[in-house]
Amino acid sequence: MNIAILGFGTVGKGVYEIVKKANGQTRNLSVSHILIRKNKERVLPEMTDNIEEILNDKNTDVVVEAIGGIEPAHEYILSALEHGKHVITANKAVIAVYLKEFTDAAEQNNVKFYFEASVGGGIPWIQGLEKALRIDRVNSIQGIFNGTSNFILDQMSRRGGSFVDVLKEAQKLGYAEADPSADIDGIDVANKLCISCDIAYNIDIKNRKALPIFGIRNITAKDVEYFAKKGLSVKLIGRTHQKGNKFDYVVEPSLFVNHSLEANTPDNYNLISLNGDTIGKLDFFGQGAGMLPTANAVIQDILDIQEEKEHLKREFNKKLEYCPQLTKGDYL
Ligand code: NAP
Ligand code: HSE
Repeated sequence: MNIAILGFGTVGKGVYEIVKKANGQTRNLSVSHILIRKNKERVLPEMTDNIEEILNDKNTDVVVEAIGGIEPAHEYILSALEHGKHVITANKAVIAVYLKEFTDAAEQNNVKFYFEASVGGGIPWIQGLEKALRIDRVNSIQGIFNGTSNFILDQMSRRGGSFVDVLKEAQKLGYAEADPSADIDGIDVANKLCISCDIAYNIDIKNRKALPIFGIRNITAKDVEYFAKKGLSVKLIGRTHQKGNKFDYVVEPSLFVNHSLEANTPDNYNLISLNGDTIGKLDFFGQGAGMLPTANAVIQDILDIQEEKEHLKREFNKKLEYCPQLTKGDYL
């Protein structure tokens, strides 16, 4: 599998690092291109500032979009799908708006569009939710969806650091968005909740601005200390319930007693729970942000595509024995 990485920041570098490692082992993966901004120095041979070179390269199988934001990410993802490339992205901001457009384009061009890393970082949440939906109706989802805000609240309660100082640390560790207001004002959680609702309820939330979203910007070290004295921890929570053909949805800071799972979700971790008819409550826990956990989820998507491709190839070769007139286009 030849992979083009668009954007060489935290996630792009993590993908590059894991591919280099995996290559020396069993997996046949390689990075063909890395898209960087015009005017940036090309410090690696794979680097280019020309998106057309990537789109028109017949040997590039997969495009990993790791630029972030809406444009040009939206344009590049769509063009890559239309050029017959599989696309993988961790970009929840663009998926929360364009998921349907991307999945339709992937279907029309007979390629895959996967986005596991967009919600829950390294946690296989999207796959878990899709699996739950094979059997159950999922009627509620709740959780800690943002690593940066969890890190800030956790550090404030552990060592009483100021909001601004701890945020700077989260940025240094590569957890925060390019514009960290998305993390602390609840927008990032809203995007992740939207994507989860789209999948769980099979809807396309168009008017997200009408949804209630509150962040953690105004929570001080003093507030956190006061809650701790009462045996409580504050966490930024996204939650949704569905009843009949209606659903509610909110992003807000909430208090949890000290022995709860939520209160014991530390650092950059996420805790996401769903409720299904037969499975009941199912919890997903792990690192929700950071270079390697996120890149791991991206690589898992690439390996899924690689395995599907290998399976199709094996099936094609088997059938070729009986029907030598078949061409690759019949199966691949
Ligand atoms: P990042 O560190 O800011 O990296 C983005 C990279 O893309 C930067 O190097 C940036 O260059 C480059 N870039 C921006 N516009 C470009 C363009 N037009 N052409 C080429 N390169 C361009 O962000 P990140 O943390 O890797 O996040 C990437 C995506 O993954 C985002 O959608 C984010 O929400 C998502 N995500 C991140 C994490 C995480 O833990 N970091 C986890 C899950 C999902 P400049 O530096 O010059 O701007
Ligand atoms: N900024 C995001 C977070 C990255 O802190 O959760 C992972 O989506």
